[in-house]
Amino acid sequence: MRIIRSPKQMSVISQKLKANGYRIGLVPTMGALHQGHLSLIRKAVKENDKVMVSIFVNPIQFGPQEDFHRYPRDLKKDALLCRKEKVDFIFYPNANQMYPQGVKTYINVRELGDVLCGASRPGHFQGVATVVAKLFNIVAPDIAYFGQKDAQQAIIIQRMVKDLNMPVKIRVMPIVREDDGLAMSSRNQYLNQSERKEAVVLYKALNKAKALVKQGIRDSQSIIKEIKSAIIKKKPTRIDYISITDPDNLKPVARIKDKALLALAVWFGRTRLIDNTILKV
Ligand code: PAJ
Repeated sequence: MRIIRSPKQMSVISQKLKANGYRIGLVPTMGALHQGHLSLIRKAVKENDKVMVSIFVNPIQFGPQEDFHRYPRDLKKDALLCRKEKVDFIFYPNANQMYPQGVKTYINVRELGDVLCGASRPGHFQGVATVVAKLFNIVAPDIAYFGQKDAQQAIIIQRMVKDLNMPVKIRVMPIVREDDGLAMSSRNQYLNQSERKEAVVLYKALNKAKALVKQGIRDSQSIIKEIKSAIIKKKPTRIDYISITDPDNLKPVARIKDKALLALAVWFGRTRLIDNTILKV
């Protein structure tokens, strides 16, 4: 396994591999790798001849008050995990290499990027779409892997690829959870012991919503009200949002037909956690 820092060098390597007929898989990450990331990496290793994992804590997707500086960084540990999974290359640029002249060109996936997480994190998805487009241009992967954990991100990337005719296939992999149901996240490390315990309520709330749908309840507001009260009992610092939307356009749905995306973001202490599930009728 090699660690490549220069975007130029990464491009040259990728182009050579492609010219030799290798199929390339890319797993974009911000590092602090956990089982969620590894599930993407394993799928990529299965489906491709060469696998690149990018590790880049992308400054342009963090707001000024967000956790860019304290975001966990541990290249040594990440490299060990990647090596174990038979990753071929880690692409590990720094901000200066990715944005040597700052940024003038942004990708803005309109509407989809302004709701849910986008409403409380203005500019976040523009930063995500822009860096992912750059990674696609640098690596030119055949397939790129994303997690359902960040459902809105996956929807936005899929739309960007479609709108801009990007020659890459997108795979979205299921949410990997801790034994007690908490969705794995690099940010879980921020939680103290009691916050960590309380945070399980998010998974329980999603399951409760699924049960309500199973019982025949279709009205989104009733479902949201029920799970909100369950979450509030655990005294989170703040509920950012709980929404039931159409997974195609992220517009709110009043009554659930076929399938809907139930997504939520809740603060425990200084940590903002997100989770989601698909409600199927
Ligand atoms: P990061 O949070 O490191 O996540 C990298 C990828 O791993 C994302 O596609 C995310 O959805 C997936 N992932 C994270 N936790 C997961 C879990 N518990 N189960 C399944 N998949 C999980 O998302 C980003 O980085 C960045 O926004 C990025 C796309 C790299 C752009 O900077």
